[in-house]
Amino acid sequence: MNNQKLDSANASPTKEFFVNMITKDISLEDSILDLIDNSIDAAKHSSGSQPMTLGSQIDLSQYTISIKLSSNSFIIVDNCGGMTLDNAIKHAFSFGRKPGIEPEQYGIGVYGIGMKRAAFKLGRDITVRSTYVEGNRIRQSFKVPIDVEEWLKSKIQSWDFDIVEAEDMEENGVEIQVRNLTSAAKNALANPAFVQNLRRMLARDYSLYLNKGLNLIVNGERISGLHLEFAGSEEFVPMRISYNGLQNGDEIFVEMIGGMAAPPPDSTEPDEKQNSDKRFGWYIACNGRIVLAADKTEVSGWGTTNWPQWHRQYAGFMGIVLFSAYNTAALPLTTTKRSVDLTSDVYKTAQVKMRDLTKEWINYTNERKQALDAAKEKEARAKAIPIQQVENRESIALPKLPAVKPVERPANVQYSVPVKRMKRLAGELGNINLPYREVGLRSFEYTYEDLVGEE
Ligand SMILES: Nc1ncnc2c1ncn2[C@@H]1O[C@H](COP(=O)(O)OP(=O)(O)O)[C@@H](O)[C@H]1O
Ligand SMILES: [Mg+2]
Repeated sequence: MNNQKLDSANASPTKEFFVNMITKDISLEDSILDLIDNSIDAAKHSSGSQPMTLGSQIDLSQYTISIKLSSNSFIIVDNCGGMTLDNAIKHAFSFGRKPGIEPEQYGIGVYGIGMKRAAFKLGRDITVRSTYVEGNRIRQSFKVPIDVEEWLKSKIQSWDFDIVEAEDMEENGVEIQVRNLTSAAKNALANPAFVQNLRRMLARDYSLYLNKGLNLIVNGERISGLHLEFAGSEEFVPMRISYNGLQNGDEIFVEMIGGMAAPPPDSTEPDEKQNSDKRFGWYIACNGRIVLAADKTEVSGWGTTNWPQWHRQYAGFMGIVLFSAYNTAALPLTTTKRSVDLTSDVYKTAQVKMRDLTKEWINYTNERKQALDAAKEKEARAKAIPIQQVENRESIALPKLPAVKPVERPANVQYSVPVKRMKRLAGELGNINLPYREVGLRSFEYTYEDLVGEE
């Protein structure tokens, strides 16, 4: 048989399949975070694309990202500079990043899917609007209205969206409005518990940005960033190291910091509500975005080789790893940004150090059980230190606790002798009225000294 071509089999995806598939494995919350990631990338671009390390001096206080959620619509507006028409034509709306289009330097968008996936997940009537200035030209604006049902139905093969004229927004930036919400989005956005949980996620996952002044507003209320802190003293000193790692030829700057965030609990019984454990565990940030928070699972390493499973006894520990890379694609990011790519070399290298640090803490919590009072007294003297203020140190310092002597097991002796003989021996020992117990002990000591000798 030769390989002569007969015909070709059509393998292009259908739009329906595509829309369903890309929205399936991501939560609504994480989709919304993808939109915020884009605004942050734009803000970072506008302010000179610097890495988001612990020592970063970047000031984001002029940037505001505002989200409005209701049962009818989802609206996000930013003043982070906007997207250019050229970008919208060539790149922003394409599904997946085209070869040759570089990700934002030190950015958090990489796969070229987040904005489209979030919009589809939220609803069926989408408008993306942008106002921007390019070079020293005047302000320009455009919008991209997307009627998802129409787009799905349209017979033409094209996947393109129309770009139309639009009025300028107040400030340069992007606005995304979604109406005709999906039923899942409708229910969630009107649910106060969903909104509250979203606020909590934003405060945590963007804490590094929020603490650099970024304004993030949900339904009119500003989110303040979670302050990650350690508890430190002369005896409790967190570890802080940094090094350059490599991922397929790309350099990644790695910072690791870990130690006691709070004293461990007195009781090691599982905490039913798990409330008190919420803060503890490992945090992983990629270019400043926290993708794994307070992790106590195998993703950070608990329960893997040479690393015990998380147990309440270890509560109080906090560790943070920050990966910063010029090329976002080199980071150990998953597409949903809700976990870490476990096959990443740079992550595997970091895990070894994470395990060693965790072990020190585990040992401390074991020793602590034997000297609880001394430990608690030392722990109570530790004061809060913000992560940025932790000094470089190769390993964690934990106090030496007083060693407890092992308790010797006693041998109890009981025997019967005639009273007459007992009294005679008591008399020989100096006092006929000595208690029998005393006679027994003294005669043991006497014989022991004679036969075994001094210790
Ligand atoms: N708020 C925004 N401000 C400026 N540009 C944006 C904004 N949102 C999206 N974009 C542009 O659209 C592109 C596509 O976004 P997205 O689908 O999330 O993929 P990715 O972030 O991986 O590139 C971004 O790379 C960016 O150029
Ligand atoms: Mg994105």
